[in-house]
Amino acid sequence: TYIVTDNCIKCKYTDCVEVCPVDCFYEGENMLVIHPDECIDCGVCEPECPAEAIKPDTEPGLEKWLQINTEFAEKWPNITIKKDSPADAEEFDGKDGKYEQYFS
Ligand code: SF4
Ligand code: F3S
Repeated sequence: TYIVTDNCIKCKYTDCVEVCPVDCFYEGENMLVIHPDECIDCGVCEPECPAEAIKPDTEPGLEKWLQINTEFAEKWPNITIKKDSPADAEEFDGKDGKYEQYFS
């Protein structure tokens, strides 16, 4: 499966939702997650994310993010249509510590 990781937080560009053939993105206030059981592993969303926040869960060190995607995909609403990113999205691109401060 593919998962969304920390650099989505406060960037939330939402380009990813437009290309997913199975509509498996879910929206929190500050980031999106992928439903790991719905993702068909096609990989098309990965290069679409301007923040490079989407990664295959086979990459080392992403266990925490797999857990977060799994948990919050069940709690947050589905999103299938791109929306405007936050006005300060670029400021947050690449910032450290976003999970600790802004995860929601
Ligand atoms: Fe959707 Fe494919 Fe991305 Fe999975 S890898 S979230 S199925 S676009
Ligand atoms: Fe987040 Fe990238 Fe999608 S910033 S909303 S995973 S395009």
